[in-house]
Amino acid sequence: MAVASASIVEPTSPVSEIVSLRDVGKSYGNVHALRGVSLVVRQGEVTCVLGDNGAGKSTLIKILAGLHAHTEGEVVINGEPVTFSSPREALARGIATVYQDLALVPLMSVWRNFFMGLELRKGPFRMLDVAKMKAVVSEELLKMGIDIPDLDRPVGGLSGGQRQCIAIARAVYFGAKVLILDEPTAALGVKQSGVVLKYVARARDAGLGVVFITHNPHHAYLVGNHFVILNRGRVSLDGSRSEISLDRLTNEMAGGAELEALGHELGASVKQMEAGTELHAR
Ligand SMILES: Nc1ncnc2c1ncn2[C@@H]1O[C@H](COP(=O)(O)OP(=O)(O)OP(=O)(O)O)[C@@H](O)[C@H]1O
Ligand SMILES: [Mg+2]
Repeated sequence: MAVASASIVEPTSPVSEIVSLRDVGKSYGNVHALRGVSLVVRQGEVTCVLGDNGAGKSTLIKILAGLHAHTEGEVVINGEPVTFSSPREALARGIATVYQDLALVPLMSVWRNFFMGLELRKGPFRMLDVAKMKAVVSEELLKMGIDIPDLDRPVGGLSGGQRQCIAIARAVYFGAKVLILDEPTAALGVKQSGVVLKYVARARDAGLGVVFITHNPHHAYLVGNHFVILNRGRVSLDGSRSEISLDRLTNEMAGGAELEALGHELGASVKQMEAGTELHAR
């Protein structure tokens, strides 16, 4: 942990805010998924959004990605209040979102996936420039340190970690300013998670503002500059790395007091079980 923490460079010059949410709320009918959420995403920083199931993490992403409009407050991009009415509008503002499973098309090759919808063409008949596209993909993946020798391979045959990395490399190449990652390490093992976290750090170092959604405080702490915990749609913790230790983050995520109460409850039931075992033994 010490090594990874040392690699985090606290920005010395004032970093610019790319996205800021001010008192944002979102209701689905009478369900308040988010209330009074304020949050800032800065260039060259990873902002981690943590929270339990149903906390409102996906709702927050959907607002930033242009899938749902917020119902209260303001979303400000580069100083200008916006309400996106489609993902295309969010993309046009440089906000790229990598979803857990929907990032790439499994049956398509690596290079087709990379250029999907933005293919390079050549000549009067606007033919696909396959050689050029493969060369670009090869170079971009190499830059990120991703080694995939056969770019014709369907993406479905790659590991979950490799797929996430390709999706991140793609967003960086196409000039994303803000990269939103929805639980990119949730379905991955320890090693693969490490690989993905490395690319999250690279995207940050390339100057993007990264929003990293996760359940895992350890993953968050390996790459995060700023931490926000959502609890039932509200921000329950918001602070920078220098203000929040990993211990505190872990404790707050585990629900501190709630966990203690659960400990007492489970302790009581363990005693009951033990008492039962003693009865049987007699
Ligand atoms: N389309 C919808 N219609 C109605 N309610 C919704 C809708 N989407 C989300 N909700 C509700 O909003 C709340 C927040 O959900 P959200 O999916 O944002 O949580 P989450 O933090 O992403 O959870 P998870 O970790 O399980 O993915 C939940 O109570 C959920 O039931
Ligand atoms: Mg979710």
